[in-house]
Amino acid sequence: MFAAVVRSFENPPRYEEIAAPEPAGDDLVVDVLAAALHPRVRSSADGSHYESTGELPLVPGIDGVGRTADGSLVYFILADTLMGSMAERTVVDPRRCVALPDGVDPVTIAAAMNPAMSSWIALRKRIAFQPGQSVLVLGATGNAGRMAVQIAKHLGAGHVIAAGRDPERLAELEALGADRVVSLGGEPEAVDAELGAAADEASVDVVIDYLWGAATQRAIPAIVTRRSDRGRPLAWIEIGSMAGLELTVPSEWLRAARLQLVGSGQGSVPTREIAAELPALAEHISASDYTIDAVPTPLRDVQSTWTKPNSGERIVFVV
Ligand SMILES: NC(=O)c1ccc[n+]([C@@H]2O[C@H](COP(=O)([O-])OP(=O)(O)OC[C@H]3O[C@@H](n4cnc5c(N)ncnc54)[C@H](OP(=O)(O)O)[C@@H]3O)[C@@H](O)[C@H]2O)c1
Repeated sequence: MFAAVVRSFENPPRYEEIAAPEPAGDDLVVDVLAAALHPRVRSSADGSHYESTGELPLVPGIDGVGRTADGSLVYFILADTLMGSMAERTVVDPRRCVALPDGVDPVTIAAAMNPAMSSWIALRKRIAFQPGQSVLVLGATGNAGRMAVQIAKHLGAGHVIAAGRDPERLAELEALGADRVVSLGGEPEAVDAELGAAADEASVDVVIDYLWGAATQRAIPAIVTRRSDRGRPLAWIEIGSMAGLELTVPSEWLRAARLQLVGSGQGSVPTREIAAELPALAEHISASDYTIDAVPTPLRDVQSTWTKPNSGERIVFVV
């Protein structure tokens, strides 16, 4: 069978013929229909993800949509494995599969589940989120941030602030449910002032953070120091690191306000709990009108597609 194969962390995967995977135990073989190129897939393929073992060769892809031998359409997430989803067939654990209703578009589901899962799991599993609470999405112009705006509203957020850089994608977020947008693209002091004021006026309870690094280094003090009620709990959920992997945390941030820093991702939520959320999330996405800019691309073009600049869309390899 054919698959995308990474043989060096310095080079993009190539479309190659490899041996078909052998299922073990209760595992199922699925014919892959669609597998998306999420940031997490890239970081596994270049060896930079914190779960990377350094082993090669590997077939990239952490999830996808496929058909089992009995003809069922399923969404699956894979365990950490060298046999990913960017292949004609892969092997899945049935406990990490969820049946999809007939008629759903495999490309849309493959594109949407990973970015949607990031905020769904964070709000449902990492904090005691209460309907009516106020949420700020930091990095709202990416695919996960755009989903987070909509999912926060769906889960009952009373007020959602969307903060991001790209002006066109930021402008779309009000129609998707954001009560206020804040541009991160301006002069830093002005951005700090607007972000801090917006967060204070909305008495933000939760920040869903896809940026970290330099962006969060400014955003935390901008918000904490302008907070009228510093004793009000503020849960800051670190989910992505588009603006940097590291942050320096001055002690005063944690003493001068009731700030709680938590993370949400693979490891901080047990896999069985993530798997248990999949049916409800898949059903919700299948039944809703989420828009995601998914670009179906033949898997055979994996090598040339991999290195194209990220223009905001989610590439989905179709087999
Ligand atoms: N922990 C989890 O469960 C989980 C799950 C899914 C994703 N993630 C992580 O979440 C992050 C976002 O994923 P995604 O799917 O949304 O990726 P994406 O669609 O590629 O979007 C990333 C966005 O980040 C923004 N960005 C990059 N650098 C920035 C900076 N310095 N300041 C402000 N914005 C910046 C860009 O927005 P502009 O165009 O506006 O510049 C870009 O659209 C990634 O780090 C990913 O690994 C985590």
